[in-house]
Amino acid sequence: MPRGAIAIVGGTGHQGRGIAQRLAAAGRSVVVASRDPRRAADLIAAWPQGAGALSSASYAEAIAGADITVLAVPFDTVDRLLQEHRAAFKANTLVIDITVPLMFTGGTATLATVPEGSAAEYIRARLRPDVRLAATFKTVPAHLLAEIEQPLDCDEFVCGDSAEARSEAVTLLSAMRGVRAIDVGPLVRARSIEHLTLLAVAVNGRHKIRSARFRVVGL
Ligand SMILES: NC(=O)c1ccc[n+]([C@@H]2O[C@H](COP(=O)([O-])OP(=O)(O)OC[C@H]3O[C@@H](n4cnc5c(N)ncnc54)[C@H](OP(=O)(O)O)[C@@H]3O)[C@@H](O)[C@H]2O)c1
Repeated sequence: MPRGAIAIVGGTGHQGRGIAQRLAAAGRSVVVASRDPRRAADLIAAWPQGAGALSSASYAEAIAGADITVLAVPFDTVDRLLQEHRAAFKANTLVIDITVPLMFTGGTATLATVPEGSAAEYIRARLRPDVRLAATFKTVPAHLLAEIEQPLDCDEFVCGDSAEARSEAVTLLSAMRGVRAIDVGPLVRARSIEHLTLLAVAVNGRHKIRSARFRVVGL
């Protein structure tokens, strides 16, 4: 695994593939982690950058080797994933949570009730204390992330359990074209961010669009 590599766990998915490609385009070494690394390798080979800064691995291999791990899997799979791999994260590694506990009930989007308050806090409760956590990429739509030639043209919020964790996440985001990373403070802010994702989904549905996202004015 290359030094300084970023693992995208679930990097084959809608949100993860755009993040992986944009980070690779920014010159970062990216490992697309999949339950099926061979399928991930085939996927990467078809991406415009080719295999250069991108490689594939199993979840276990990627988590054990990465300095930064992006959790890009469905929220309801996180508990099992972290139970299985909790011990494997490197000490002091940075985990970036992008999950939103979104669910559809009778065609209406809602947020699942998470006792910890947000998906990010739920993940914090399941990581070792020596693993750092930031949350971001929660409101930018997957299909825009995947249009890697296009600047993202939005703001994206970053929260985290330390100023240092947030600063690293801001640096990562800022490597992508057209996005302004906004540090919104401690992990508890994920509660608001995840509600903003729900709002964006509602705006998309009501106005028959696909790309609702956020821009803070006055900052
Ligand atoms: N889609 C969006 O626009 C968007 C926006 C903001 C935030 N998010 C959040 O980002 C996360 C990923 O969303 P997504 O739309 O990218 O999800 P997705 O495409 O449905 O799944 C992402 C990846 O998760 C892995 N995975 C692991 N366990 C799985 C299981 N039991 N069932 C299905 N997939 C599993 C799969 O990778 P392998 O099969 O290769 O292991 C899959 O490619 C979610 O938590 C979501 O809330 C999504």
